[in-house]
Amino acid sequence: MEHITLALAKGRPANSTIKLLETTGEYFTDLHEDTRKLVFYNANKTIKLIFVKALDVPTYVEKGAADIGIVGRDNILESQADVYELLDLKIGQCKFAVAGKPDHNFSDTQKLTIATKYPNVAKKHFKKKGQPIETVKLNGSVELAPIIGLADYIVDIVETGSTLKENGLIVIEDMDLISTRLIVNKASFATKSEEVGQFINQLKSVME
Ligand code: PRP
Repeated sequence: MEHITLALAKGRPANSTIKLLETTGEYFTDLHEDTRKLVFYNANKTIKLIFVKALDVPTYVEKGAADIGIVGRDNILESQADVYELLDLKIGQCKFAVAGKPDHNFSDTQKLTIATKYPNVAKKHFKKKGQPIETVKLNGSVELAPIIGLADYIVDIVETGSTLKENGLIVIEDMDLISTRLIVNKASFATKSEEVGQFINQLKSVME
């Protein structure tokens, strides 16, 4: 059997995934919290684990540098990568939403400014509605943008809603539901179907 390459992004979803894999008996040599290493193998070298940035996980999978990726659906949608999405791990459940000030009052015909970490997601959403927008790409603290007048609205992830609330913003419109998903390279799905299938079944067996 060939090994499969699994791309993860460091953080909570990766930690939960690694715990799930350990429950199935797969342990990765030298993997501990403080390590700066980026490549790990399980004991019998059937899984090669690589750590990349979250938004790069779909790119690695699309290009075939990884056979499988496990990452938040927010990154999959933003990357627009052409991959198969085969499993919802039900970790990190949240949603995309359009949010703004409670007294928002913008006409549908005027071009809106949307601040977001996810410009592709925002563009696709408003294009479907026929609403012209321009996006301002930010890398965090997006909630600040409508408060200080940098944007009319934001498109961002809402989990508990407390960041919006504490900054005096409200959800204007719910968008896609997000959670951690398993994605597969289209060629690997055909050429390594046994390995990929076994890996997915292993994970499924320890998910409730
Ligand atoms: C994310 C997201 C929201 C917040 C939502 O930010 O961009 O700001 O979490 O969570 P909540 O609904 O539970 O409050 P993150 O924590 O990644 O920080 P960032 O602002 O640096 O992107």
